[in-house]
Amino acid sequence: VKRITTHVIQELKSKGEKISALTAYDYSLARLVDAAGVEIILVGDSASNVMAGHETTLPITLDQMIYHATSVVRAVKRALVVVDLPFGSYQGNSSEALRSAIRIMKESGAHSVKMEGGLEVRESIIRVLSAGVPVMGHLGLTPQSIYKFGTYAVRAKEETEAQKLLEDAKMLEDIGCFAVVLEKIPAALTQQVSQSLTIPTIGIGAGPDADGQILVLHDLLGINKEFKPRFLRRYADLHGVITQAIEHYVDDVKDREFPSKEEAY
Ligand code: KIV
Ligand code: NA
Repeated sequence: VKRITTHVIQELKSKGEKISALTAYDYSLARLVDAAGVEIILVGDSASNVMAGHETTLPITLDQMIYHATSVVRAVKRALVVVDLPFGSYQGNSSEALRSAIRIMKESGAHSVKMEGGLEVRESIIRVLSAGVPVMGHLGLTPQSIYKFGTYAVRAKEETEAQKLLEDAKMLEDIGCFAVVLEKIPAALTQQVSQSLTIPTIGIGAGPDADGQILVLHDLLGINKEFKPRFLRRYADLHGVITQAIEHYVDDVKDREFPSKEEAY
């Protein structure tokens, strides 16, 4: 199979073909996501919530991200693997950003990293790019700044924040990012940003005009019954499927239905 590179991702935008992206944090699910034809697999710091049960993405460590990334890279034959630099591993110190990115690339074998923020992290992104590590930007609702925002509500509804986001997006393109995630912003702003940039925008809760879409795999699969924001389309009810299967197993064990003679040695 032909590998998806950052260049292929940029070509998809030039051709007007939408880009599909999903998260994965482990070997078994990353294999399925890759084989199903997704172009970008993000080892997101949402693993902090989804895998570890934390309330925010802030607690996950660089070592933990590298463990997830290593597992995903072992599974992936085709997709571009992007890994989130976790909170505290790149902000405000470009040397530390470079060290963190190099650890991810060396120890996991991933193909690129993602960093949240605009002007505030410009120097860190430039430093990582200068080492030859492709960087995906991330603007709008950037969850590592949740304590600054105070809420998971839609960002950039007002003109000043929208203007800053547009300037940040252009800056990220100018310094050499290969794509930028736009999270939870008005659809009209997504359209404006996507038109202004030659690099692709990848939206989540950002409307239909982003050049690509990304979702958290576990959300798309409906594993968490309670989590249903407006932007989320659930393509399966794994909460129901998994619960039924496990309850059936428990019943069979109690009723001495499992294992059968045929399932014994
Ligand atoms: O960590 C994550 O899952 C993400 C995507 C939702 C963009 O950053
Ligand atoms: Na993330």
